[in-house]
Amino acid sequence: MEKSVLQKERASYQPKLPLGLQGAVKVVEGEPTQSVGDQEEIKKLFPNTYGMPLIEFAPGVEAAHGPLNVGVILSGGQAAGGHNVICGIFDGIKKLNPESRLYGFLMGPGGLVDHDYVELTAETIDEYRNTGGFDMIGSGRTKLEKEEQFDKGLEIIKELGIKAVVIVGGDDSNTNACVLAEYYAAKGCGVQVIGCPKTIDGDLKNDQIETSFGFDTATKTYSELIGNIERDCNSARKYWHFIKLMGRSASHIALECALQCQPNICIVSEEVEAKDMTLNQIVEQIAAAVADRAARGLNFGVVLIPEGLVEFVPSIGRLIQELNDLLAAHGADYKDLGKAEQREYILAHLSAENAATFETLPEDVARQLSLDRDPHGNVQVSLIETERLLSQMVEAKLAAWKAEGRFAGKFAALHHFFGYEGRCAAPSNFDADYCYALGASASQLIAAGKTGYMAIVKNTTAPAAEWKAGGVPITMMMNMERRNGEMKPVIRKALVELDGAPFKAFAAERDKWASETCFTYPGPIQYWGPSAVCDSTTRTLALEQA
Ligand code: FBP
Repeated sequence: MEKSVLQKERASYQPKLPLGLQGAVKVVEGEPTQSVGDQEEIKKLFPNTYGMPLIEFAPGVEAAHGPLNVGVILSGGQAAGGHNVICGIFDGIKKLNPESRLYGFLMGPGGLVDHDYVELTAETIDEYRNTGGFDMIGSGRTKLEKEEQFDKGLEIIKELGIKAVVIVGGDDSNTNACVLAEYYAAKGCGVQVIGCPKTIDGDLKNDQIETSFGFDTATKTYSELIGNIERDCNSARKYWHFIKLMGRSASHIALECALQCQPNICIVSEEVEAKDMTLNQIVEQIAAAVADRAARGLNFGVVLIPEGLVEFVPSIGRLIQELNDLLAAHGADYKDLGKAEQREYILAHLSAENAATFETLPEDVARQLSLDRDPHGNVQVSLIETERLLSQMVEAKLAAWKAEGRFAGKFAALHHFFGYEGRCAAPSNFDADYCYALGASASQLIAAGKTGYMAIVKNTTAPAAEWKAGGVPITMMMNMERRNGEMKPVIRKALVELDGAPFKAFAAERDKWASETCFTYPGPIQYWGPSAVCDSTTRTLALEQA
């Protein structure tokens, strides 16, 4: 692999580790735990992995360990730092016993089922230290949910003498990791399963998980780009930039970028839902800001839009719910129909209220809502051009206001979607350190014989040496939710909390940002220089942990 100058220099960065993981490790167990909701049902579904204690690692005394063979899987969307998780596992198990081996299952969970794997040697690992992307072993979205898949995986696990599988993924993948852990435990296979909290979306967090890895790097990358656009916008003074930001349902990414860049407007989907806003009300809110600035000669601005917005407009949310159930129940009849027949089929099967909403949506948006879900049942929101939809509606509103004499300015819109640009960026120091520590924690959970746990690192706004590493039983984060028409045990997704510190900090400033021009320009991620620049966390994490 040919390397850039930066990559060569960055390869020698030694990620920082918490004190508890720097030398020999002692396992400190807490009290038994309970799931966050639906305790009786979750306990019944996970009799072997429910109620286990929280774990923290503290400095301990050296002890001999047999070799540990481990398999690792990267699941779902790329997030900066995934390679460092693998490096942390590799260094961790080699330190416990140099004969240990690490296998990477290729292209996601499918690699386990299809027996597609590679042994990760020291040479491979050294090629990927502190790099972005998941290209060391690839990633995929195959959902591990059927017993045939688990049994097929077990064949290769046994053949390679693997003691534990680490699944690096988001809420859905970690839920499946727990189901797999329970299955292997119930069958007495002697195979452990450990999860790792990954996703740029930032929605896998709770009392135990302070942040998911990749969020830090992705939001810093998008904020650099948004800052550059703001500066261009403030220089040319002739465009309104509508920027959609990845993040699936939750608006954490948009909110964090707003805190870093102070755009004129940032829509927060969770607020739209809480205030029961219609699409038209959102459009009016943007148009009012455009008109207000135009009255003062400011015919430019920046609007941030979370990619999951349409799901949170209550009428569209209700429509999606019904479509999910409809597609789950009748997917087979529907799949082979032509485009026009599919639209008719849907309109004929929906309730009157939802059919009316479906009909008012632009055809391409409506179609996107009625296409295949991803393997975990999610609407593929990154494919919906919400930024264009909103700017066109704002333009129409302003044209109407112009006719009424309420708007006399100019409105020229440009559109951007920042998503894939941020998932594979070279990890920030935070993500490089955090991920390496997560990998090291996973190796210690394996050494301690644990299964059904997720590796965690807490106290992450303190210097890395003071971070607290350990493990949380995955069942502790679960509740029952409706998915594809059925109630399922899942890890509760964290959405933006309107009474949380990050949203409050934004809400306190946004009126000023809308009318004045308060742009801030964060610039690119830095790897060398003052710690305040290189090691800072996201504003979200700093505000939440303050
Ligand atoms: P994960 O939930 O797997 O981490 O993926 C996050 C994400 O980047 C979302 O923000 C986005 O909606 C989705 O992946 C895009 O999916 P795909 O990579 O399949 O296009």
